Amino acid sequence: MSSPRHFLTLLDLSPAELRSLISRAIELKALQQQHQPHELLKNRVLGMVFEKSSTRTRVSFEVAMTHLGGHAIFLSPRDTQLGRGEPVADSARVLSRMVDVIMIRTFAHDIVETFAQHSQVPVINGLTDLHHPCQLLADIQTYVEQRGDLRGRTVTWIGDGNNMCNSYIHAAAQLDFRLHIACPTGYEPDATLLRQHQDRITLTTDPNEAARGADLIVTDVWASMGQEEQAHSRQQAFTGFQVNAALMKLAQRDALFMHCLPAHRGEEVTAEVIDGPQSIVWDEAENRLHAQKALLELLVR
Ligand code: CP
Ligand code: NVA
Repeated sequence: MSSPRHFLTLLDLSPAELRSLISRAIELKALQQQHQPHELLKNRVLGMVFEKSSTRTRVSFEVAMTHLGGHAIFLSPRDTQLGRGEPVADSARVLSRMVDVIMIRTFAHDIVETFAQHSQVPVINGLTDLHHPCQLLADIQTYVEQRGDLRGRTVTWIGDGNNMCNSYIHAAAQLDFRLHIACPTGYEPDATLLRQHQDRITLTTDPNEAARGADLIVTDVWASMGQEEQAHSRQQAFTGFQVNAALMKLAQRDALFMHCLPAHRGEEVTAEVIDGPQSIVWDEAENRLHAQKALLELLVR
């Protein structure tokens, strides 16, 4: 049996595939808006393993499978044997003999890698501590809808060098844009990624410097899932790393603002910015649905 195609990071697609997936997502969005059926995965089943909470990822994958004519099963460690210590490899072997594609949201990135290694069907990374590639598909689609290709643009990441920031580094490499990253010392993105992609990254501890000239400003929570006990120390470390109106003024006049959500207004972003005219966070959230339909179609069909 040939090994299945997985989507564990953005690098699992070639730049050309990534661009065509985004065009397809835009087409599928139009089909849905015109109430045109698009049952491309009839009777196919997606297994969704969630070891962390989710609103957008769960709902978008579940609705995507319904629109595609298939079905999605929600699996949580609370009520599966995974939560009682059944090995990841065994769970992957068993699930992949029954379902057509598996999405997993978990902690350590090597868990999705192990899962993929032992799966007979495609595995999708629905977020790990290291990457959140599905969110990047939606972010890219949203930017393209508003402004066209990202090639040659400048994107600014403000705040924690977390899973989202790491996936933005992959996106910059794949789509050929510049990435300014402003993080407090000690909260930088993955060191290997920084080194590999240093030619297109400007890393600084000064949010103002990073924001200058940006076409898009992106941020995320200061404490990610699994870092709840660090919330207080992180609030102190990230003081000054808030995306507010003054920071947005340093960017291009027509710059946009994105946030993968959930957001904490008054911490990493002000209400004025996230609820203001430059923010496209609701389109960004909706596009999870369309971009993941295109991804499921690519991997499963
Ligand atoms: N942005 C995102 O992945 O949201 P959820 O945690 O709600 O899935
Ligand atoms: N960085 C956040 C993203 C949530 C969608 C987290 O990992 O919790």
